[in-house]
Amino acid sequence: MKRMLSGIKPTGQLTLGNYIGALKNFVRYQDDYEMIAFIANLHCITVYQEPQELKKNLRDAVALYLACGLDPKKATIFLQTDVLEHAQLGYIMACNTYLGELNRMTQFKDKMAKGETNLSAGLYTYPTLMSADILIYDPDYVPVGEDQKQHVELTRDVAIRFNHRYGDTFKIPEPLVQKVGARIMSLSDPSKKMSKSEESNKGCIYLLDEPAVARKKIMSAVTDNEAHVAFDPVKQPGISNLLQIHSSLSNEPIESITARFEGKGYGEFKKEVAEVVVAELEKIQANYRAIIAENQIERVLEEGAAKARSIAARKLNKVQRRIGIEIRKR
Ligand code: AMP
Ligand code: TRP
Repeated sequence: MKRMLSGIKPTGQLTLGNYIGALKNFVRYQDDYEMIAFIANLHCITVYQEPQELKKNLRDAVALYLACGLDPKKATIFLQTDVLEHAQLGYIMACNTYLGELNRMTQFKDKMAKGETNLSAGLYTYPTLMSADILIYDPDYVPVGEDQKQHVELTRDVAIRFNHRYGDTFKIPEPLVQKVGARIMSLSDPSKKMSKSEESNKGCIYLLDEPAVARKKIMSAVTDNEAHVAFDPVKQPGISNLLQIHSSLSNEPIESITARFEGKGYGEFKKEVAEVVVAELEKIQANYRAIIAENQIERVLEEGAAKARSIAARKLNKVQRRIGIEIRKR
């Protein structure tokens, strides 16, 4: 069975973008692949998080992994910090990554360009930890949203170089980016990615938003003056975004949705998108409440970490022997 691995960094509450671009696909793949899905909590602290809030967001993220349908019997679910090998391989990867490569990462460049001050060193080197997160499990595929593709490509480059220097050690992973829904845009500004770190909450739907709140956000989504429901991300970015959201959740092809709305207004279209979104959120939230009530989280994390650790420990050992820093045989 081919292996897949991915992670989410819960620096806030998980969003509809996380769900459509990443989580929903993890669930879809868990039957046909060996799925490893972790919570990237070390990545969270690259930017200061209020500790109590972070703790709550981490628990909620695990609960939401389960609520969205990830099954701990099929998928390995764990917290990054429960497998110490990630950080150790992360350091080794940092030693095998060039500054020039990190300087090209658009996520960091964008933050610099915005003039944000006091960016941490951890934020700068974070793609090296991400490459360790991936390479330590030898996955075939890494399902991610569009914004993470560049980091997976860097991971490939570093792995190829490492294998060349030290002999075949890592499998070269492939990023897996969906055709529809890989980049869900903000509802209030469809030129920007829907993101949990958005200043105003209007453009971002959270998986735990009250249904009425989510409905209101969709109904007030920014659109255009074209007055027909068509898929054209350049001329009609807002409507195209709503079409992607609808199609990803309902599985109805975009052309079929636009055909049904031929000659109809945006109000009617938005109402249907809101119905589709709210139905999905209600399902997820009912599962979420049950999971919190049943107190499953700790056990799931413990079992997941044990499984992950045994793979990661073997790999780290092999890496350390290859690069010549081990003396004792383990
Ligand atoms: P993050 O929340 O940054 O840890 O992202 C976790 C996963 O969700 C990654 O695979 C991202 O690419 C994906 N993701 C985050 N935001 C969006 C979005 N607006 N549209 C699609 N995918 C997203
Ligand atoms: N960097 C990813 C994000 O912010 C999260 C992440 C960390 C990840 N390690 C990973 C994703 C390994 C895939 C594989 O979205």
